Amino acid sequence: MITDVIREDARGVVHSLGRLLDPLAGSRVLVTGAAGFLGAFFMDVLEAFNERHATNPALVTAMDNFMVGPPERISHLLGRPWLTLRTADVSRPQEIEAEYDWIIHLASIGSPSIYRSNPLQVIAANVQGTWNLLEAARKGAKGMLSFSSSEVYGDPAIVPTPEDYNGNVSFTGPRACYDESKRLGETLCSTYFRLHRVPVKVIRPFNVYGPGQRLDDGRIIPDLLRAALAGGPLVLFSDGAATRSFCYVSDFTEACLMLLVMPEADGEAFNVGNAEEVAIAQAAHTMAEVTANPPLPVLFEKSAETAYLVDNPQRRCPDLSKLHRLTGFSARVSLKEGLGRSLASYREESNPLHRPKRAS
Ligand SMILES: NC(=O)c1ccc[n+]([C@@H]2O[C@H](COP(=O)([O-])OP(=O)(O)OC[C@H]3O[C@@H](n4cnc5c(N)ncnc54)[C@H](O)[C@@H]3O)[C@@H](O)[C@H]2O)c1
Repeated sequence: MITDVIREDARGVVHSLGRLLDPLAGSRVLVTGAAGFLGAFFMDVLEAFNERHATNPALVTAMDNFMVGPPERISHLLGRPWLTLRTADVSRPQEIEAEYDWIIHLASIGSPSIYRSNPLQVIAANVQGTWNLLEAARKGAKGMLSFSSSEVYGDPAIVPTPEDYNGNVSFTGPRACYDESKRLGETLCSTYFRLHRVPVKVIRPFNVYGPGQRLDDGRIIPDLLRAALAGGPLVLFSDGAATRSFCYVSDFTEACLMLLVMPEADGEAFNVGNAEEVAIAQAAHTMAEVTANPPLPVLFEKSAETAYLVDNPQRRCPDLSKLHRLTGFSARVSLKEGLGRSLASYREESNPLHRPKRAS
């Protein structure tokens, strides 16, 4: 569901990017995975963009098979004259026939607990889906973002990890369906750039979080948020020593949109995230402090799911120098602020008195 917090974040992205997004006006934009966590936020940013370009809006096709993303997350956009909503599976080529100027390809299954139960579906989306979108982009797209993952690095020997690190990835373990298919998706992107000069840029997100993420999606921040909203305790199914770099959704989206419209980024892969590396235990304590005073208790337990920590990387932190060199981008939202905004958004959702005002 849309909230005032999400709407404010989306408008903030458009404000911050200013004239950089002008090429989107009047153009045809395809967003795949549009009901997912990131896809829905991109949709809200496009709506904020169209508020400013009411006479020449971006004409957006939102595509999802709604396997993971709930239709309600984008239902507030239904009826917008610039929107076409398509229920379609990106792994079926016949479902992607039209031509687009800009393609934002997010369709996949981001949550480890959901893709572990649907391994063939995630391989189909990451490989065949990406292939189909590259074919669509070949028809004259000006720019395409293809979303890979920091998981392509596996458990990295180099941290912070630069884009030219080749990875340390299990190709048969329980996460391989995701990690290896993301890697093949990237091979397809670099091949289409080399063979056909398709202007595709690969994005490797590092633990993006924020309002709008499904609270049952099994990733660490939604798990913490869910426990916090229920009044605690915050339970970690590990010792909390593994590290991650958490990036707030508006920072992340801003960097991605800069890359979308930059021809200098064509054919390249970019780490996108926040350079601050924090232990999972530290993230839990920050959540506990943001939620209540005195802070909620943080507990450490063992998961009943045997594959829970198999091939789970110990450290995860991006080297962002390539992104910074090209775009000047650095994340601005601290973990404390981002968790606070996320919590405020979920509280808004559950409180009927604070339902969002209609878009003006
Ligand atoms: N959020 C993160 O921190 C993160 C980290 C690394 C990579 N990524 C990647 O970014 C992209 C978006 O991530 P997210 O967090 O929004 O994931 P998500 O799982 O919330 O959303 C993905 C969306 O794609 C849809 N989808 C799945 N298979 C499809 C298919 N075959 N056809 C059409 N739609 C399909 C799902 O229904 C869902 O709505 C994904 O490619 C993910 O792998 C995200």
